[in-house]
Amino acid sequence: MLEVNSLHTGYGETRIIRGLSFSLQSGQVFALLGRNGAGKTTTLKSIMGLLPAFEGAVQLEGQAITGTKPFNLARKGIAYVPETRDIFPSLTVKENLELAARLMPKTGAEWTMDRVLNFFPRLHERLSNGGNQLSGGEQQMLAIARALLMNPKLLILDEPTEGLAPIIVKQIHDKLQELKSEGMTILLVEQNFGFATSLADQVAIVGKGQIVWSGTSAEIRADKETQHNWLGV
Ligand SMILES: Nc1ncnc2c1ncn2[C@@H]1O[C@H](COP(=O)(O)OP(=O)(O)OP(=O)(O)O)[C@@H](O)[C@H]1O
Ligand SMILES: [Mg+2]
Repeated sequence: MLEVNSLHTGYGETRIIRGLSFSLQSGQVFALLGRNGAGKTTTLKSIMGLLPAFEGAVQLEGQAITGTKPFNLARKGIAYVPETRDIFPSLTVKENLELAARLMPKTGAEWTMDRVLNFFPRLHERLSNGGNQLSGGEQQMLAIARALLMNPKLLILDEPTEGLAPIIVKQIHDKLQELKSEGMTILLVEQNFGFATSLADQVAIVGKGQIVWSGTSAEIRADKETQHNWLGV
């Protein structure tokens, strides 16, 4: 589905990512882990065309997408939920959702407004509330709901559990599990080790600007040394 090949990226002259490669298969949940500041968000931003690829390439289903901007990537089937969630605070929940639905009109789309509101009943209750009146968990649900309305092949999530209470983390977990069981392909960046490894099929760890370890969730759960060296778990 997605292949990142020897990617180099960063800010201005500063190279944060230096030769990072991984690939994820259709239907997989793939978790990208790493310490604070390891470069996980930087990697996602480069995949999303928000940071330049100094070297290397990104492919979606075998087609080069290196440097393609978010709107065009959305049309190609990648939906991205950034760390900052980017809810429009002055618009209502309904308006936030309608904007996404209008941006990516599709006939016979799998994810309609009705389905999304069924999936997140909490958002249904909150339809007329402003984006700025939502809890962190509700904001995350809205951000994921918006992404689903784009009917993506690949859903990219940057730290969906950040700052959320355990009970909300559990709810988000169950929703992502549901998406996974329906065959959604997900690229997940996380600090929450338990959350990530209970969802992911495949895990890769970012360190020193590259992938320093990769394997299955079961393998990393058993590998205390790697956890200690690269994740500080
Ligand atoms: N806008 C920026 N300009 C310059 N350097 C930046 C910028 N944003 C991030 N960095 C640097 O890039 C490095 C990687 O940051 P990045 O945000 O990708 O890490 P991360 O793995 O997502 O961390 P976290 O888990 O804290 O979100 C850090 O050293 C950070 O200081
Ligand atoms: Mg980050």
